[in-house]
Amino acid sequence: MPEKKIIAVVGATGAQGGGLVRAILEDRSGPFVARALTRDVSSDKARALKSQGVEVVAADVNDSASLARAFAGAHGAFCVTAYWEVFSPEKEIAQARAMAEAAKRAGVKHVIWSTLEDTRRWMPLSDDRMPTLMEKYKVPHFDGKGEADRIFTEVGAPTTLLLTSFYWDNLIHFGMGPKPGADGTLEFTLPMDDAKLPGIAADDIGRCALGIFKRGGELIGKTVGIAGEHLSGAEMAAALTRALGRPVRHNAVPPEVYRSFGFPGADDLGNMFQFNRDFAKEFCAARDPEVARSLNPALETFATWLERNASRIPLG
Ligand SMILES: NC(=O)c1ccc[n+]([C@@H]2O[C@H](COP(=O)([O-])OP(=O)(O)OC[C@H]3O[C@@H](n4cnc5c(N)ncnc54)[C@H](OP(=O)(O)O)[C@@H]3O)[C@@H](O)[C@H]2O)c1
Repeated sequence: MPEKKIIAVVGATGAQGGGLVRAILEDRSGPFVARALTRDVSSDKARALKSQGVEVVAADVNDSASLARAFAGAHGAFCVTAYWEVFSPEKEIAQARAMAEAAKRAGVKHVIWSTLEDTRRWMPLSDDRMPTLMEKYKVPHFDGKGEADRIFTEVGAPTTLLLTSFYWDNLIHFGMGPKPGADGTLEFTLPMDDAKLPGIAADDIGRCALGIFKRGGELIGKTVGIAGEHLSGAEMAAALTRALGRPVRHNAVPPEVYRSFGFPGADDLGNMFQFNRDFAKEFCAARDPEVARSLNPALETFATWLERNASRIPLG
C-alpha cells in the first residue's frame, strides 16, 4: 500500500480543523493521514487526538519557526485563524501570511485557506448603510480573511480558497439559540428580514475540505463556497419549532438593534448579518449546497443537524 500523505491541520482542536481530522480518521482507506497542530500538546483535546492515533505537534500561527516544523514533509495544509481570540484583522492577516509563507517554503502541494469575503468590495467604507468599525473595516472578522486571500497567491502557495458559512453549531456554543420573549414564547433572533442565510454543520466544513484535498490539484487556484442549506430566519424558526416540539418565532430585529446588543463583537456580527441580507443573492450564490454535497455526500441539512443536536441547544 502506498504511504499515506500528511495533511497538516491548523485548528485541529477546534470546529473546522477538528472536523477535518475526524473526516480523515473516518476515511480509513483514504490517501491521507492528519497531523494536528495545537499550541498546547498537553490539553485534553490534544490528548484525545493522540489517543486516536493522530500525530499531534506544537505550533503557533504567530510563530513562523513552529509552522516550518509543523508543515515539513506535509502534502497538504489546512489553514484557519481564530478571529474571536484576537479580535484583530491585522493579527489575522499576519497569521495568514505566516501560514502561507511556511507552506510555500515547506513545499506543501495543496493549501486550503478557510476564508470569508472582504465585504468592502461590495460595501466600501464610504457607504453609510452600516458603520465602519476599527477605522477601516465593515465586517472585521470577514474583511481580514478576505484581504489575506491575495497573500496566498503572492507567496506562490498552491491554494484553494474555501468560503465557509454560518455554523448552525452557533446555536449551541455561541449563544445564538432561541430565547424566551416577553410573553415566554421562544424567539430566534436573526436580523435579516426574510433574506436567506447560508448555514452549515461545522463538521461538514472539514468533510468538504477533505473532499477538496481528494480532488488532487483540480481545485488549486479556485474559490470553493460551501453551505448545507440556505434558510431564512422564519424557515429556521419553523425547523426549530418542529425539532423542539414547541413554538419558536422569528425575531427579525433590524441590524442596528443587533449591533447595540452589547456583547463583544455584536457590532461586527450586526454588520455581518446586514451584509448577508443586503447582498443575499451574491452571498448565497457563492455557497452552493450542491457543490458542498459533491465534495461531501454526507452533507447535513438544518433538519438533519437538528435531529442530532436540538437537545443540546440552550434555551435560557
Ligand atoms: N462560528 C461561525 O459561524 C463561523 C463561520 C465561518 C467562519 N468562522 C471562522 O472560524 C474561525 C475559527 O475556527 P473554528 O471555529 O474552527 O475554531 P474554534 O473552534 O474556535 O477553535 C480555535 C482553534 O484555533 C486554534 N488556535 C487559536 N489560536 C492559535 C494560534 N495562535 N496558533 C495555533 N492555533 C491556534 C486552537 O487550537 P489550540 O487552542 O489547541 O492551540 C483551536 O483549534 C474564526 O476565524 C471565525 O471567524 C466561524
